[in-house]
Amino acid sequence: MQTFQHPRQMREHLDALRHQGHTIALVPTMGALHEGHLRLVDEAARHGDTVLVSIFVNPTQFGPNEDFSRYPRDLESDRAKLQQRGAHLIFAPTPELMYPEGAATRVCVQHLTAHLCGPLRPGHFDGVATVVTQLFHIAGPCTAIFGQKDFQQLAVIRRLVCDLHMPVHIVAHPTVRDSDGLALSSRNAYLSPDERQRALCIPAALQLVHDAFHSGIRTPERLTQCAASHIAPRVDTVDYISLVCPDTLAPLRDDIPPHHSALLAVAVRIGATRLIDNILLNTAPSPVFPRSAPNTKSPRPTSPC
Ligand code: PAJ
Repeated sequence: MQTFQHPRQMREHLDALRHQGHTIALVPTMGALHEGHLRLVDEAARHGDTVLVSIFVNPTQFGPNEDFSRYPRDLESDRAKLQQRGAHLIFAPTPELMYPEGAATRVCVQHLTAHLCGPLRPGHFDGVATVVTQLFHIAGPCTAIFGQKDFQQLAVIRRLVCDLHMPVHIVAHPTVRDSDGLALSSRNAYLSPDERQRALCIPAALQLVHDAFHSGIRTPERLTQCAASHIAPRVDTVDYISLVCPDTLAPLRDDIPPHHSALLAVAVRIGATRLIDNILLNTAPSPVFPRSAPNTKSPRPTSPC
Protein backbone atom coordinates (compact mmCIF):
# COMPACT_ATOMS: atom_id res chain seq x y z
CA MET A 1 0.00 0.00 0.00
CA GLN A 2 1.70 3.18 -1.21
CA THR A 3 1.18 6.64 0.31
CA PHE A 4 1.42 9.79 -1.81
CA GLN A 5 1.74 13.31 -0.50
CA HIS A 6 2.18 15.37 -3.67
CA PRO A 7 -0.92 15.95 -5.84
CA ARG A 8 1.09 15.75 -9.07
CA GLN A 9 2.78 12.46 -8.15
CA MET A 10 -0.57 11.03 -7.05
CA ARG A 11 -2.18 12.03 -10.33
CA GLU A 12 0.67 10.63 -12.45
CA HIS A 13 0.50 7.30 -10.60
CA LEU A 14 -3.27 7.10 -11.10
CA ASP A 15 -3.00 8.18 -14.76
CA ALA A 16 -0.70 5.22 -15.34
CA LEU A 17 -3.09 2.83 -13.57
CA ARG A 18 -6.06 4.11 -15.57
CA HIS A 19 -4.01 3.74 -18.74
CA GLN A 20 -3.64 0.03 -17.87
CA GLY A 21 -7.43 -0.20 -17.56
CA HIS A 22 -7.80 0.10 -13.79
CA THR A 23 -10.88 1.74 -12.29
CA ILE A 24 -10.39 3.88 -9.20
CA ALA A 25 -12.78 4.05 -6.26
CA LEU A 26 -12.10 6.95 -3.90
CA VAL A 27 -12.99 7.31 -0.21
CA PRO A 28 -12.35 10.92 0.90
CA THR A 29 -11.69 11.22 4.66
CA MET A 30 -10.10 13.47 7.23
CA GLY A 31 -8.46 10.48 8.96
CA ALA A 32 -8.82 9.36 12.60
CA LEU A 33 -10.38 6.37 10.90
CA HIS A 34 -13.09 4.30 12.58
CA GLU A 35 -15.27 1.40 11.49
CA GLY A 36 -17.63 3.82 9.67
CA HIS A 37 -14.81 4.94 7.38
CA LEU A 38 -13.59 1.36 6.95
CA ARG A 39 -17.02 0.18 5.78
CA LEU A 40 -16.79 2.86 3.09
CA VAL A 41 -13.45 1.30 2.11
CA ASP A 42 -15.10 -2.16 1.90
CA GLU A 43 -17.83 -0.62 -0.28
CA ALA A 44 -15.19 1.04 -2.51
CA ALA A 45 -13.67 -2.37 -3.25
CA ARG A 46 -17.01 -3.36 -4.80
CA HIS A 47 -16.85 -0.40 -7.22
CA GLY A 48 -13.26 -0.13 -8.42
CA ASP A 49 -10.23 -2.37 -8.67
CA THR A 50 -7.97 0.25 -7.06
CA VAL A 51 -9.18 1.58 -3.71
CA LEU A 52 -7.76 5.00 -2.89
CA VAL A 53 -8.34 6.65 0.50
CA SER A 54 -7.55 10.33 0.93
CA ILE A 55 -6.62 11.54 4.41
CA PHE A 56 -6.61 15.31 4.70
CA VAL A 57 -7.85 17.52 7.52
CA ASN A 58 -9.09 20.23 5.19
CA PRO A 59 -8.56 23.67 6.76
CA THR A 60 -11.02 25.48 4.48
CA GLN A 61 -14.03 23.62 5.87
CA PHE A 62 -13.37 24.63 9.49
CA GLY A 63 -14.60 27.96 10.88
CA PRO A 64 -12.26 30.19 12.92
CA ASN A 65 -13.68 28.92 16.23
CA GLU A 66 -13.93 25.27 15.21
CA ASP A 67 -11.71 22.30 16.03
CA PHE A 68 -9.20 22.34 13.12
CA SER A 69 -6.11 22.45 15.33
CA ARG A 70 -7.30 19.79 17.79
CA TYR A 71 -8.90 17.49 15.19
CA PRO A 72 -7.40 14.00 15.86
CA ARG A 73 -4.54 13.09 13.49
CA ASP A 74 -2.75 9.71 13.49
CA LEU A 75 -1.51 8.77 10.04
CA GLU A 76 0.40 5.69 11.21
CA SER A 77 -2.61 4.15 12.92
CA ASP A 78 -4.82 5.05 9.91
CA ARG A 79 -2.30 3.42 7.58
CA ALA A 80 -2.33 0.18 9.63
CA LYS A 81 -6.16 0.07 9.58
CA LEU A 82 -6.27 0.63 5.82
CA GLN A 83 -3.59 -1.95 5.16
CA GLN A 84 -5.61 -4.50 7.13
CA ARG A 85 -8.74 -3.58 5.19
CA GLY A 86 -7.04 -4.06 1.83
CA ALA A 87 -6.96 -0.45 0.56
CA HIS A 88 -4.39 0.01 -2.22
CA LEU A 89 -3.33 3.65 -2.05
CA ILE A 90 -3.38 6.57 0.37
CA PHE A 91 -3.29 10.22 -0.62
CA ALA A 92 -2.24 12.32 2.39
CA PRO A 93 -1.25 15.82 1.25
CA THR A 94 -0.39 18.82 3.42
CA PRO A 95 -2.46 22.05 3.50
CA GLU A 96 0.42 23.83 1.71
CA LEU A 97 0.29 21.35 -1.17
CA MET A 98 -3.50 21.58 -1.53
CA TYR A 99 -3.66 25.36 -1.03
CA PRO A 100 -0.31 26.82 -2.15
CA GLU A 101 0.28 30.53 -1.66
CA GLY A 102 -1.97 32.50 -3.98
CA ALA A 103 -4.73 29.87 -4.17
CA ALA A 104 -7.94 31.86 -4.63
CA THR A 105 -10.64 29.49 -5.89
CA ARG A 106 -13.67 28.32 -3.91
CA VAL A 107 -16.47 26.09 -5.14
CA CYS A 108 -19.89 27.14 -3.84
CA VAL A 109 -23.03 25.00 -4.02
CA GLN A 110 -26.11 27.15 -3.47
CA HIS A 111 -29.59 26.47 -2.05
CA LEU A 112 -28.92 23.11 -0.34
CA THR A 113 -26.44 24.93 1.88
CA ALA A 114 -29.06 27.47 3.01
CA HIS A 115 -30.46 24.88 5.47
CA LEU A 116 -29.37 22.77 8.45
CA CYS A 117 -25.61 23.16 9.05
CA GLY A 118 -25.13 25.77 6.30
CA PRO A 119 -26.13 28.92 8.21
CA LEU A 120 -24.45 27.68 11.41
CA ARG A 121 -21.12 26.89 9.74
CA PRO A 122 -20.57 29.70 7.20
CA GLY A 123 -18.13 28.64 4.48
CA HIS A 124 -18.07 25.00 5.62
CA PHE A 125 -19.70 23.51 2.54
CA ASP A 126 -17.66 25.77 0.23
CA GLY A 127 -14.58 24.23 1.84
CA VAL A 128 -15.97 20.71 1.40
CA ALA A 129 -17.03 21.33 -2.23
CA THR A 130 -13.64 22.87 -3.01
CA VAL A 131 -11.55 20.05 -1.57
CA VAL A 132 -13.77 17.33 -3.06
CA THR A 133 -13.47 19.00 -6.48
CA GLN A 134 -9.68 19.05 -6.04
CA LEU A 135 -9.65 15.39 -4.98
CA PHE A 136 -11.78 14.36 -7.97
CA HIS A 137 -9.43 16.23 -10.34
CA ILE A 138 -6.33 14.71 -8.78
CA ALA A 139 -7.68 11.16 -8.52
CA GLY A 140 -10.08 10.85 -11.49
CA PRO A 141 -12.14 8.19 -9.71
CA CYS A 142 -14.98 6.34 -11.43
CA THR A 143 -16.74 6.11 -8.07
CA ALA A 144 -16.52 7.96 -4.76
CA ILE A 145 -18.14 6.77 -1.53
CA PHE A 146 -19.71 9.06 1.08
CA GLY A 147 -21.57 8.34 4.31
CA GLN A 148 -25.23 9.16 4.93
CA LYS A 149 -24.33 10.32 8.43
CA ASP A 150 -23.30 13.56 6.73
CA PHE A 151 -26.52 13.69 4.75
CA GLN A 152 -26.23 17.36 3.79
CA GLN A 153 -22.63 16.89 2.66
CA LEU A 154 -23.72 13.95 0.50
CA ALA A 155 -26.52 16.05 -1.03
CA VAL A 156 -24.09 18.92 -1.72
CA ILE A 157 -21.62 16.57 -3.42
CA ARG A 158 -24.30 14.93 -5.55
CA ARG A 159 -25.39 18.43 -6.66
CA LEU A 160 -21.78 19.47 -7.35
CA VAL A 161 -21.10 16.40 -9.49
CA CYS A 162 -24.32 16.86 -11.43
CA ASP A 163 -23.92 20.63 -11.98
CA LEU A 164 -20.25 20.45 -13.04
CA HIS A 165 -20.75 17.32 -15.19
CA MET A 166 -18.11 15.44 -13.26
CA PRO A 167 -17.75 11.85 -14.52
CA VAL A 168 -17.92 10.34 -11.02
CA HIS A 169 -20.53 7.96 -9.66
CA ILE A 170 -21.43 8.88 -6.07
CA VAL A 171 -22.31 5.97 -3.79
CA ALA A 172 -24.00 6.58 -0.43
CA HIS A 173 -23.25 4.28 2.49
CA PRO A 174 -25.67 3.95 5.47
CA THR A 175 -24.59 5.33 8.82
CA VAL A 176 -22.47 2.89 10.82
CA ARG A 177 -23.32 2.84 14.53
CA ASP A 178 -21.73 1.56 17.70
CA SER A 179 -23.51 -1.35 19.40
CA ASP A 180 -25.35 1.16 21.65
CA GLY A 181 -26.66 3.10 18.63
CA LEU A 182 -24.34 6.13 18.67
CA ALA A 183 -23.25 7.02 15.13
CA LEU A 184 -19.50 6.51 14.79
CA SER A 185 -17.60 9.77 14.39
CA SER A 186 -13.98 10.86 14.75
CA ARG A 187 -15.33 13.56 17.09
CA ASN A 188 -16.69 10.92 19.54
CA ALA A 189 -13.07 10.77 20.80
CA TYR A 190 -13.64 14.19 22.41
CA LEU A 191 -16.50 12.92 24.61
CA SER A 192 -15.96 12.14 28.31
CA PRO A 193 -17.70 8.94 29.55
CA ASP A 194 -20.57 11.06 30.95
CA GLU A 195 -20.89 13.05 27.71
CA ARG A 196 -20.87 9.87 25.64
CA GLN A 197 -23.66 8.46 27.80
CA ARG A 198 -25.68 11.65 27.28
CA ALA A 199 -25.04 11.45 23.51
CA LEU A 200 -27.11 8.24 23.42
CA CYS A 201 -30.21 10.45 23.60
CA ILE A 202 -29.62 11.16 19.88
CA PRO A 203 -30.08 7.62 18.49
CA ALA A 204 -32.81 7.02 21.09
CA ALA A 205 -34.71 10.10 19.84
CA LEU A 206 -34.27 9.03 16.21
CA GLN A 207 -35.72 5.66 17.15
CA LEU A 208 -38.69 7.34 18.86
CA VAL A 209 -39.35 9.47 15.79
CA HIS A 210 -39.01 6.42 13.55
CA ASP A 211 -41.58 4.56 15.68
CA ALA A 212 -43.91 7.57 15.79
CA PHE A 213 -43.72 7.95 12.01
CA HIS A 214 -44.51 4.27 11.51
CA SER A 215 -47.42 4.49 13.96
CA GLY A 216 -48.93 6.99 11.54
CA ILE A 217 -47.83 10.39 12.87
CA ARG A 218 -47.08 12.60 9.86
CA THR A 219 -47.15 16.12 11.33
CA PRO A 220 -43.70 17.79 11.20
CA GLU A 221 -44.26 19.68 14.46
CA ARG A 222 -45.21 16.52 16.37
CA LEU A 223 -42.27 14.53 14.98
CA THR A 224 -39.68 17.24 15.71
CA GLN A 225 -41.19 17.84 19.15
CA CYS A 226 -40.92 14.11 19.84
CA ALA A 227 -37.15 14.27 19.19
CA ALA A 228 -36.66 17.62 20.92
CA SER A 229 -38.34 16.57 24.16
CA HIS A 230 -35.97 13.60 24.41
CA ILE A 231 -32.78 15.41 23.34
CA ALA A 232 -33.01 18.95 24.72
CA PRO A 233 -32.80 18.06 28.45
CA ARG A 234 -29.70 15.90 27.90
CA VAL A 235 -27.47 18.11 25.73
CA ASP A 236 -25.86 21.52 26.24
CA THR A 237 -27.07 23.17 23.01
CA VAL A 238 -29.50 22.14 20.31
CA ASP A 239 -28.23 23.62 17.01
CA TYR A 240 -31.25 22.21 15.21
CA ILE A 241 -33.75 19.39 15.19
CA SER A 242 -35.45 19.68 11.80
CA LEU A 243 -37.75 17.68 9.61
CA VAL A 244 -36.78 18.47 6.04
CA CYS A 245 -37.37 17.39 2.48
CA PRO A 246 -34.56 14.91 1.66
CA ASP A 247 -34.14 16.40 -1.83
CA THR A 248 -34.05 20.14 -1.10
CA LEU A 249 -33.30 20.03 2.66
CA ALA A 250 -35.96 22.75 3.10
CA PRO A 251 -38.06 22.43 6.30
CA LEU A 252 -41.36 20.59 5.92
CA ARG A 253 -44.38 22.56 7.10
CA ASP A 254 -47.31 20.35 6.07
CA ASP A 255 -48.07 16.74 6.97
CA ILE A 256 -45.90 14.26 5.07
CA PRO A 257 -48.15 12.91 2.28
CA PRO A 258 -48.48 9.13 1.73
CA HIS A 259 -45.54 7.63 -0.21
CA HIS A 260 -43.33 10.67 0.53
CA SER A 261 -40.22 10.62 2.65
CA ALA A 262 -38.75 13.06 5.13
CA LEU A 263 -35.40 13.48 6.84
CA LEU A 264 -35.14 14.19 10.54
CA ALA A 265 -31.74 15.86 11.05
CA VAL A 266 -30.18 16.68 14.40
CA ALA A 267 -27.15 18.77 15.39
CA VAL A 268 -26.31 19.28 19.07
CA ARG A 269 -23.42 20.25 21.27
CA ILE A 270 -22.44 18.18 24.28
CA GLY A 271 -19.67 19.94 26.17
CA ALA A 272 -17.30 21.23 23.46
CA THR A 273 -18.29 18.53 20.97
CA ARG A 274 -20.70 19.03 18.08
CA LEU A 275 -22.52 15.88 16.98
CA ILE A 276 -24.84 15.35 14.01
CA ASP A 277 -27.12 12.47 13.09
CA ASN A 278 -30.22 11.86 11.00
CA ILE A 279 -32.85 9.36 10.02
CA LEU A 280 -34.66 9.03 6.73
CA LEU A 281 -38.37 8.38 7.27
CA ASN A 282 -40.14 6.63 4.46
CA THR A 283 -42.77 4.02 4.02
CA ALA A 284 -40.24 1.23 3.34
CA PRO A 285 -38.68 -0.29 6.50
CA SER A 286 -35.39 1.35 7.49
CA PRO A 287 -32.30 -0.88 7.42
CA VAL A 288 -30.84 1.28 10.17
CA PHE A 289 -33.77 1.31 12.53
CA PRO A 290 -35.77 -1.84 11.73
CA ARG A 291 -39.40 -1.58 12.76
CA SER A 292 -39.41 -4.58 15.07
CA ALA A 293 -35.78 -4.83 16.22
CA PRO A 294 -34.10 -1.59 17.27
CA ASN A 295 -30.34 -1.73 16.89
CA THR A 296 -29.64 -0.22 20.29
CA LYS A 297 -28.81 -2.37 23.29
CA SER A 298 -29.97 0.30 25.70
CA PRO A 299 -33.59 0.03 26.88
CA ARG A 300 -36.02 1.51 24.41
CA PRO A 301 -37.29 4.83 25.80
CA THR A 302 -41.03 5.14 26.20
CA SER A 303 -42.59 7.41 23.63
CA PRO A 304 -43.34 11.01 24.62
CA CYS A 305 -44.96 11.51 21.20
P1 PAJ B 1 -14.82 12.55 7.59
O1 PAJ B 1 -15.62 13.17 8.67
O2 PAJ B 1 -13.51 11.93 7.93
O3 PAJ B 1 -15.73 11.48 6.89
C1 PAJ B 1 -15.28 10.80 5.74
C2 PAJ B 1 -16.45 10.01 5.17
O4 PAJ B 1 -16.86 9.04 6.13
C3 PAJ B 1 -17.68 10.90 4.89
O5 PAJ B 1 -18.27 10.49 3.67
C4 PAJ B 1 -18.58 10.61 6.07
O6 PAJ B 1 -19.96 10.80 5.79
C5 PAJ B 1 -18.26 9.13 6.31
N1 PAJ B 1 -18.61 8.72 7.67
C6 PAJ B 1 -18.18 9.26 8.83
N2 PAJ B 1 -18.76 8.64 9.89
C7 PAJ B 1 -19.57 7.67 9.36
C8 PAJ B 1 -20.45 6.70 9.91
N3 PAJ B 1 -20.62 6.57 11.22
N4 PAJ B 1 -21.12 5.90 9.06
C9 PAJ B 1 -20.97 6.02 7.71
N5 PAJ B 1 -20.15 6.92 7.13
C10 PAJ B 1 -19.47 7.73 7.94
O7 PAJ B 1 -16.65 14.05 5.79
C11 PAJ B 1 -15.47 14.35 5.77
O8 PAJ B 1 -14.51 13.65 6.44
C12 PAJ B 1 -14.94 15.54 5.00
O9 PAJ B 1 -15.91 16.56 4.99
C13 PAJ B 1 -14.50 15.19 3.55
C14 PAJ B 1 -15.67 14.67 2.70
C15 PAJ B 1 -13.37 14.16 3.57
C16 PAJ B 1 -13.96 16.48 2.86
O10 PAJ B 1 -12.92 17.02 3.56
